[in-house]
Amino acid sequence: MIELKSARDREKMRRAGRVVAEVLAILREAAVAGVTTRELDALAEAEILRRGGRPAFKGYHGYPASLCVSINEQVVHGIPGPRRLQPHDLVSLDLGAVVDGFVGDAAISFFIGEPPSPRAAELVAVTEASLRAGIAAFQVGGRLGDISHAVQSLCEAHGFSVVRDFVGHGIGRAMHEEPQVPNFGAPGQGIRLRPGLALAIEPMVNLGGYEVEVLDDGWTVVTRDGSLSAHFEHTVFLGENGPEILTRVE
Ligand code: MF3
Ligand code: CO
Repeated sequence: MIELKSARDREKMRRAGRVVAEVLAILREAAVAGVTTRELDALAEAEILRRGGRPAFKGYHGYPASLCVSINEQVVHGIPGPRRLQPHDLVSLDLGAVVDGFVGDAAISFFIGEPPSPRAAELVAVTEASLRAGIAAFQVGGRLGDISHAVQSLCEAHGFSVVRDFVGHGIGRAMHEEPQVPNFGAPGQGIRLRPGLALAIEPMVNLGGYEVEVLDDGWTVVTRDGSLSAHFEHTVFLGENGPEILTRVE
C-alpha cells in the first residue's frame, strides 16, 4: 500500500527534512582531514537531538550509529569508527532524523580537499546531477519509471553504472515505505506519480561496474571491483504544483 500524505503531514515532513539538511551542512564543514568518522557520528547525533529530533538510523535493524560514512569504494552504510578522513578521500554522508513522527533522509558526497582524479570529480558531479534529473522527473501524472530512467540514462551516458541491489524508497512515518525507487528502469512504467507521494530518491553510482558486496561487518556495501562510488539523496514531496525538496542543504 502506498500512503499519500496530507497537508499536515507535509508540514511535519518539512521540519524533519530541515533538521537533516541543517545537520548535513554542519557535517560537511566538519569533515576535514584528520577527523575520525566516529567524531562525525557524535556530532550528527548531538545536532539532531539539539533540534528536537532523534536519529532515524540508530537501532534500525541493529544499525549501531546515527550516520553512515562511506569512503571511496564504499557505496553506502559505512559504519563510523576510528578511521580518519584523508586528503582526496571521496566521502558520502547519509543521515536520517525523526521529528514529530516523520522521517527525513538525505545524503551528500564530496572530497576531502582535491579529488584524486578528474574522472572521480566527474563521478560526483554526475551523481548529483542525476539526483536533480530524477527529481525533475517526479511530476504529477508521470510514472515511477520516469524517475528511474532519468537517473540511469544520465549516469550511463557518462560511462558510470548505477547500483542495482539498493534502491530509493517511499518515506513518511517510516523511513522505508512503498514504493521502492530503483535507479534503473524504463520511462512510462510503474506506479503513477500523484500529489501527496513522498520519496527518498537516492542514486548510488559506481565509476566501474554496478556489482556490490557487503563486508563482514554486515553493513558496509562496497563495489566488487574496488572502484569509487558516490551517493546523493533527497527526501522529496510531490505537491499539486510539482516536487518540493524537503532536505535541501542551504
Ligand atoms: N538512507 C539509507 C536508506 O535509505 C540509510 C539506511 S542506514 C540504516 O536505506 F542503518 F538505517 F539502515
Ligand atoms: Co534512503
